[in-house]
Amino acid sequence: MDTIRVSLGDRSYPIYIGSKIMQDQDLVQNAITAKQVLIVTNNVVAPLYLRQLETTLSAKQQHSLILPDGESEKTLPTLSRVLDVLVQKKFHRDACLIALGGGVIGDITGFAAACYQRGVEFVQIPTTLLAQVDSSVGGKTGVNHPEAKNMIGAFHQPNCVLADTDSIRTLPKRQFYSGLAEVIKHGLILDREFFDWLEDNLINVLTQDMNALTYIVRKSCEIKADIVAKDELEQGARALLNLGHTFGHALESLKGYGEWLHGEAVAIGINLAAETSRELGMLDAEDCKKIRSLLTQANLPIVDPNIDSNELFKLMKLDKKNSSSGLRMVLLKNLGKGVVITNPNEKIIKKVLQAQSKS
Ligand SMILES: NC(=O)c1ccc[n+]([C@@H]2O[C@H](COP(=O)([O-])OP(=O)(O)OC[C@H]3O[C@@H](n4cnc5c(N)ncnc54)[C@H](O)[C@@H]3O)[C@@H](O)[C@H]2O)c1
Ligand SMILES: [Zn+2]
Repeated sequence: MDTIRVSLGDRSYPIYIGSKIMQDQDLVQNAITAKQVLIVTNNVVAPLYLRQLETTLSAKQQHSLILPDGESEKTLPTLSRVLDVLVQKKFHRDACLIALGGGVIGDITGFAAACYQRGVEFVQIPTTLLAQVDSSVGGKTGVNHPEAKNMIGAFHQPNCVLADTDSIRTLPKRQFYSGLAEVIKHGLILDREFFDWLEDNLINVLTQDMNALTYIVRKSCEIKADIVAKDELEQGARALLNLGHTFGHALESLKGYGEWLHGEAVAIGINLAAETSRELGMLDAEDCKKIRSLLTQANLPIVDPNIDSNELFKLMKLDKKNSSSGLRMVLLKNLGKGVVITNPNEKIIKKVLQAQSKS
């Protein structure tokens, strides 16, 4: 098992990564010290892992809440359902919420923990690759507004993250590949060696070799933990994690959530960010090709020919990550070196968007 620490002073916490963690009574019971726990999960994950977790937690006073599956459930009414259970079952301030599931469950549960009695403990048990390499780390929690994704939320760090890599094996393959987009992103923004490793070892990742899976989760968590420790509230370096996301979010809202999975939209966005970086003279053509090739080998899309590039550009300008001084996006100076650029040349972006919609 690997352990990584997210260093945030008195809010620091460990991330445990490895096989069979959910069955490890010593580890889980040491990690979750509260006597009263509420496990929040959904109707896809519950049949797979809930009984196991309840057994591991045996001695505790525990309740479980099984929500319907899906991004469409990441709403204020669902948050209310979690809070209702906490109130009705008389949960105290020293209780702990446990998020058992992917990013949707993690975001809702973390936000409920941030709100209940102005903040109680919570633990993340991420069961998707995307949640293990990204959403469970860093303390961003929240729900969607009917008109805007992730618009209501809070920063609330978990007490620990338990990433059981075995759970990745039950994921639908498309969800698995979608998580790989965020893994590749981590290499691209900060770690050339990791990008090279992915190029050389992708086959072991795709066949879900346990050592390879543990390695990509560990490296991703190290990179994200490092960024979060430097910039918890996203006022600087943390923005690098948005590589591919300005394009990606615009694509998700243009297509309606659900057509592309998040990681697929991000993969297309990474390719567009790489092309924009090349057009701006920052990245050479050979490196762009390497990025395209790795994304494609990971079974990820790199273009969406069925989009209106003008519409996409308009939506990019609405991205909530923009600052008041204009469009802000992450580009690449090199493989392993992302940079945040404010007001990049709009003509070049439009040219890249038009080229991709014709390809
Ligand atoms: N908080 C953050 O920093 C952050 C970062 C990135 C993404 N997010 C959020 O995360 C969400 C996306 O997360 P996601 O990709 O994990 O989606 P998800 O939670 O919807 O999970 C994807 C699907 O896989 C199922 N599933 C989960 N674990 C499984 C398992 N082990 N075996 C089989 N099926 C399983 C889920 O029920 C769901 O149907 C979005 O809402 C996004 O906004 C948050
Ligand atoms: Zn993302």
